[in-house]
Amino acid sequence: MRIKYTISIVFFVALVIIEKENNIISRVSDKLTLKQTPQTPLQLSGFSHILLKHNGSSTSLSKMDPAFLQMKQRLENYSEHQEVMTRARKHILLLATTRTGSSFVGEFFNQQGDNMFYLFEPLWHVEKMLTLETGGTNATAAAKAYRDVLKQLFLCDFSLLESFLDPLPVDHITTALFRRESSSSLCEESVCSPFIKGVFERYHCRTRRCGPLNLTMASESCLQKEHRAIKSVRVRQLETLRPLVEDPRLDVKFIQLVRDPRAVLASRMVAFAAKYKNWKQWAMGGDVPIDDEEVRKLKGNCDNIRMSAEIGLRQPLWLRGRYMLVRYEDIARFPMRKATEMYRFTGIPFTPQVKSWILKNTQASKETSGVYSTQKNSSQQVEKWRFSLPFKIAQVVQKVCGPTLKLFGYKFVSSEEMLTDKSVSLIEDKVFNFL
Ligand SMILES: *[C@@H]1O[C@H](CO)[C@@H](O)[C@H](O)[C@H]1NC(C)=O
Ligand SMILES: *[C@@H]1O[C@H](CO)[C@@H](O)[C@H](O)[C@H]1NC(C)=O
Ligand SMILES: *[C@@H]1O[C@H](CO)[C@@H](O)[C@H](O)[C@H]1NC(C)=O
Ligand SMILES: *[C@@H]1O[C@H](CO)[C@@H](O)[C@H](O)[C@H]1NC(C)=O
Ligand SMILES: *[C@@H]1O[C@H](CO)[C@@H](O)[C@H](O)[C@H]1NC(C)=O
Repeated sequence: MRIKYTISIVFFVALVIIEKENNIISRVSDKLTLKQTPQTPLQLSGFSHILLKHNGSSTSLSKMDPAFLQMKQRLENYSEHQEVMTRARKHILLLATTRTGSSFVGEFFNQQGDNMFYLFEPLWHVEKMLTLETGGTNATAAAKAYRDVLKQLFLCDFSLLESFLDPLPVDHITTALFRRESSSSLCEESVCSPFIKGVFERYHCRTRRCGPLNLTMASESCLQKEHRAIKSVRVRQLETLRPLVEDPRLDVKFIQLVRDPRAVLASRMVAFAAKYKNWKQWAMGGDVPIDDEEVRKLKGNCDNIRMSAEIGLRQPLWLRGRYMLVRYEDIARFPMRKATEMYRFTGIPFTPQVKSWILKNTQASKETSGVYSTQKNSSQQVEKWRFSLPFKIAQVVQKVCGPTLKLFGYKFVSSEEMLTDKSVSLIEDKVFNFL
């Protein structure tokens, strides 16, 4: 009688334990099913000690109850999951337009270290080929090509990109990849085939000299890396990239980099003087024909940037947690702070390597000393364009890019005096991301 009583108490306790752990498991399962592609490592570490505790003391219990054995196995399975999840691969796409500081921001990821595979403007080849073949007029076809190439590259597959290289690679070997040396991943030892003196002199690949690029080697190296990042100034509409998000093999995060369109135009007029000669003429004298092709192009660019940002900021379900907007002006003024935010957004550790690169290449060290004048001075640097862009050109930009200026928090100028008044910043403080 007494023995029977004791046994039932033991059994009851065992049931309570099992019940408790089942609850934990089902809570974990809920989390797992809610987040189809887990973005943050789940805090499962607590389970390993539960497992250990039961491993020793409850052997007889597990023999007694097959359900317990099964539960134990499930727990073990989840701790294996944990490993996979903490190592979850991220795919970062840095979206920008020319003269917005995207090469600089790309370095934030290029400098990350051994676990990042970074590509600099791979779509350059796609745009070039499409422009040659079709005049580049079919935006739908271009968007599709960009999307498909990006998707493959995020999966370390270079085959589609290869078809856009000119000359076409032979045996996956190329000397034609645009700015290979801008990707430290493509200059690593494992991707650096022997350099033949006198034949490929131009292949100064960062710290070493490499022979032609073997894309099979690049692909193998890419597969070894934990994270992947691509910078591109060619994608027009964020929405065209939706299939990337929906691909279960990818965990894509978009960072859209924007800049005051007036500053961008001022910068382009210097950097691409030939292409912008009409603007230079208008700047020097005469009226700007508002229905000119160039002005329409400017408006088109502004609209694309704005529409992409509007979708991102609206946070539709497919983009939730996957979109971040960053202003060039904020990066220029607070590089370390913005880089930290960007890394937090991506879920990739912000390495000391990146930090020291930023320190070396900016005046970010002063940022932390809280010197107000530093910020003011940087603002002046960032707003230097105000002294090179004539007021009437600024007016044209404001006219065709008004909604874009407004969305990103760039103040309109109403007179020549205001444009060149150093005491008035045209950059409003603005917070865009609700993470
Ligand atoms: C659990 O016990 C089994 C057999 O008693 C042993 O082989 C195993 O290593 C133990 N596991 C842990 C995590 O202690
Ligand atoms: C644990 O994982 C193994 C292999 O992945 C699987 O065969 C088994 O059914 C899983 N067990 C439970 C209880 O989920
Ligand atoms: C543009 O490209 C799309 C997709 O490839 C195609 O369906 C369409 O016919 C093309 N339009 C023109 C005008 O060539
Ligand atoms: C390119 O690299 C792959 C993988 O390492 C290798 O098998 C192949 O032989 C290389 N191709 C050439 C032409 O060296
Ligand atoms: C701002 O910084 C530049 C160097 O970046 C320096 O030459 C200039 O004197 C500074 N201006 C002010 C007002 O501190």
